[in-house]
Amino acid sequence: MKERIRSLLKKRNAIMLSHNYQPPEIQDLADLCGDSLELSIKAAQTDAEVIVFCGVHFMAETASILSPDKTVLLPREDAGCLMADMIEPVGLQIMLDKLPPMPVVTYVNSTAAVKALSTICCTSANVVDIVNSLDADEILMTPDRNLALYAASQIKKKIHTWDGYCPTHDRLKPEDVNHARRTYPDAVFMAHPECRPEVLELADVIRSTSGMIRYAKESKTSAFIVGTEVGLLYPLKKANPDKLFYPASIKMLCKNMKKISIEDIARSLELMEGEVKVPENIRQPAFKAVQKMIELSLSK
Ligand code: 13P
Ligand code: SF4
Repeated sequence: MKERIRSLLKKRNAIMLSHNYQPPEIQDLADLCGDSLELSIKAAQTDAEVIVFCGVHFMAETASILSPDKTVLLPREDAGCLMADMIEPVGLQIMLDKLPPMPVVTYVNSTAAVKALSTICCTSANVVDIVNSLDADEILMTPDRNLALYAASQIKKKIHTWDGYCPTHDRLKPEDVNHARRTYPDAVFMAHPECRPEVLELADVIRSTSGMIRYAKESKTSAFIVGTEVGLLYPLKKANPDKLFYPASIKMLCKNMKKISIEDIARSLELMEGEVKVPENIRQPAFKAVQKMIELSLSK
């Protein structure tokens, strides 16, 4: 099956991208694994004709926003993101009408239609730089309230929040962290900014998924408690075979990130099935928000 996928990728002039939370066999087969920012940049730069996105729907949409001439395939159309579904354009517009004019910073974990109403996008890796880059004292951040509260703790700006959250990260509670710390007293606790503020207060470091991989590699410490989706344990261990990684809680599992199988990828490439295409009237304003983010991140 894996050989068939590699030969189909060649035949279709396709590139296979995988998020860091995908199952091990998918990460091992992909041309590139990464966090949302790295995958967005790669999707914008590749000259492949087809992008097979192993992640969730908003990621495939982002690839389509950036590469309208390419075919973007999501091997399982029901691989969605619960947080992205917590905001809709109508609701955002109602909130904007109630607030004084201000920039809208939208996490990439959102639909194209919500990005289209936003000033600029951000990811967990660049949120502080993005918010700092804006010439405004008040900002609305959507949809992740935890990411917005994290940004507010780092920056002296008034940040209005949308009440969305990632159920996988929001599930981690201080008592889970305290339990893990008691069990592994010498380990460094790394947390993702999608975690609750009371969990982030307990963190030794706060990073995106790839940021955690880099941190663990550079750190002299040899044991880590990992406060993000459990799929990250695989690339962490792969990049750091001599170090130890423990989940902060085994409850941190995103079912949507585990929906795509090797068989789904083969079928999708064989039949060119599961195309995700953002309509042009939404793509153009969404492109501006994503492109601004990428330009700012590449200039850093
Ligand atoms: P990053 O890989 O950008 O840190 O994103 C985490 C996430 O929840 C993606 O769905
Ligand atoms: Fe969405 Fe959270 Fe799953 Fe990421 S981990 S896809 S943010 S529900």
